[in-house]
Amino acid sequence: MTTELSTGMSLLARYETALMRTFGTPPRVLLRGDGCYVWDADGRRYLDLLGGLAVNALGHAHPKVVEAVATQLGTLGHVSNLFATPSQIALAERLLALIGSGGRVFLTNSGTEANEAALKATRRTGRTKIVSAKGAFHGRSMGALAITWNPAYREPFEPLPGEITFVDYGDADALAAAIDDDTAAFVVEPIQGENGVVVPPGGYLAKAREITSRHGALLWLDEIQTGMGRTGDWFAHAGSGIVPDLVTLAKGLGAGFPIGACVGLGPAGDLLGLGDHGTTFGGNPIAAAAALATIDVIEEHGLLEHTMVAGEHLTAAIDKLHDARIDHVRGRGLLRGVALVDPVAPAVVKVALDRGFIVNAPNPHTVRLAPPLIVGLDQLDTFVDALPELLDVATQADLSAACDAPASHTADNSPEEEVSP
Ligand SMILES: Cc1ncc(COP(=O)(O)O)c(C=O)c1O
Repeated sequence: MTTELSTGMSLLARYETALMRTFGTPPRVLLRGDGCYVWDADGRRYLDLLGGLAVNALGHAHPKVVEAVATQLGTLGHVSNLFATPSQIALAERLLALIGSGGRVFLTNSGTEANEAALKATRRTGRTKIVSAKGAFHGRSMGALAITWNPAYREPFEPLPGEITFVDYGDADALAAAIDDDTAAFVVEPIQGENGVVVPPGGYLAKAREITSRHGALLWLDEIQTGMGRTGDWFAHAGSGIVPDLVTLAKGLGAGFPIGACVGLGPAGDLLGLGDHGTTFGGNPIAAAAALATIDVIEEHGLLEHTMVAGEHLTAAIDKLHDARIDHVRGRGLLRGVALVDPVAPAVVKVALDRGFIVNAPNPHTVRLAPPLIVGLDQLDTFVDALPELLDVATQADLSAACDAPASHTADNSPEEEVSP
């Protein structure tokens, strides 16, 4: 008997043959998006509550970003860094203005590259020791991997750049004990996204600033996931009253167009000097135009405030369920982790997808939501309304152990564990 494959399944069969196995086989092929919705190859619609891993700040196919990209591409698409462009210059100025400090910007194509630039900048202090945090995720290149915590990601690729010490996240005493006068930098996420949306205790960043300053070490904030409005401020460190030395950005910066930035504030802006670093595509005018349009839309539509309101609404609505299977909701703005009592988050993600919701599980106990900043409260409510049933089905599937290992997971990536970007 021959069974006909759906369009999605036959595309995935080709994916399995042609693509490296780094991500396993994705559960769906997506064809198009509009606002907070995407459609798969078989015509099914999904409410995107993950925004391409905290990237699609303005949803899908936002007309302002589309127009900016198309106009720039139709005018001047690429020049390399042998030349300057107005959009590149304007973006660097705009980022410094948003951060509210003087400095200099190095533009990249991704978060990992932004972190590589920052890592090289730390070497220019003349020191080589870096302190990072347990649970940290900073990317998958050899340098970014060296400061990433997950041993399963790191160990197969050792030796990596060395002299990295990992301290407990949020523990200022541990940080004070780890940093000395030979430390080049402390790199830290203001909220650990990939680790399950972990929020440090209040005052942690201020203490980190105080400790690093005392020892002449740099404070490097990886705001790749938390920055550009995701937490309801332009940057998650905004309320902490500190000025970091390095800030790395990407994800929401281009609202889906690949771009990253390494921002050096004050003297740190001069650490990388002539010939110290380079990139062919980084800072290209199309990406810069996309980022400028994104910033404009966030400002013009009051999306920072909306993000704060929507995030609080989501948390309050989930709390109101009084569902004993949900321990709590953590995070800030529209970066939220729903902490589950039982390790069924991967099953919830799978059931949610079948019901038309895209979320993910950074760990077995956490369902992460990072929707577009334009998401409507009513759209969030549809997920909250569905959540008890998603938990019913997921728990059932888990109990019966019929939770057959999805094809999307490879041997080094247990069904409980998602692959980080
Ligand atoms: C905090 C943080 N840093 C760095 C990265 C790597 O960014 P990219 O995947 O754009 O290289 C990520 C990606 O998830 C991240 O969350």
